[in-house]
Amino acid sequence: MRIIFASGNKGKIREASEILGEDYEIITPASLGINEEIEETGNTLKENSLIKAEYLYKRTGMNVFADDTGLEVDALGGAPGVHSARYATDGHDFDANIDKLLLELSKHPGEPRSARFKSVVTLLINGERHFFEGTIEGRIAESRSGVNGFGYDPVFIADAYPGRTFAEVPEEAKNAVSHRGQSLRAMAAWLKENGF
Ligand code: IMP
Repeated sequence: MRIIFASGNKGKIREASEILGEDYEIITPASLGINEEIEETGNTLKENSLIKAEYLYKRTGMNVFADDTGLEVDALGGAPGVHSARYATDGHDFDANIDKLLLELSKHPGEPRSARFKSVVTLLINGERHFFEGTIEGRIAESRSGVNGFGYDPVFIADAYPGRTFAEVPEEAKNAVSHRGQSLRAMAAWLKENGF
């Protein structure tokens, strides 16, 4: 089936294509000429994923899904959380976000560096809303390593792959355990069960 993924993030789009497989043709907003940034004004990941999905549904009338992801760091009281994309600047600057994260954590020496990614996916299908979630536990590394993935991957060490950041494991290995891997596989299972 053809379905819009309400994202302009190339890393996320590549991951979603790999996770959902050939039964789903992912359409990007950019391929439909929709390039404007959708303002994420919600207070929770669920609200923001719904905002993105509804915006695209209203614009196109097509079936659509959206993901919103947050990184929760325990020593920072759950920050950056829902503000993960704009932690350091207003502009999705991955490098600046990591710099700020490492700087803030350096102010908490000796405290655990435990953290988790949470993903909430909203699926709008025939106008109905469905939500799917995923969480991956891990910790924040002392410094960056690896070149794969995107966002905070160079400093996130999943408990499932000790000693390596998400940017050091192959994409399939990340997707097999990741927050978005879980939420998107749950969505795909629901779509299959319901005949889509
Ligand atoms: P959003 O869901 O696109 O708003 O993402 C929030 C922030 O988390 C952005 O800075 C993303 O780059 C980052 N992010 C989302 N998913 C991942 C991931 O799988 N790994 C690392 N960073 C991510």
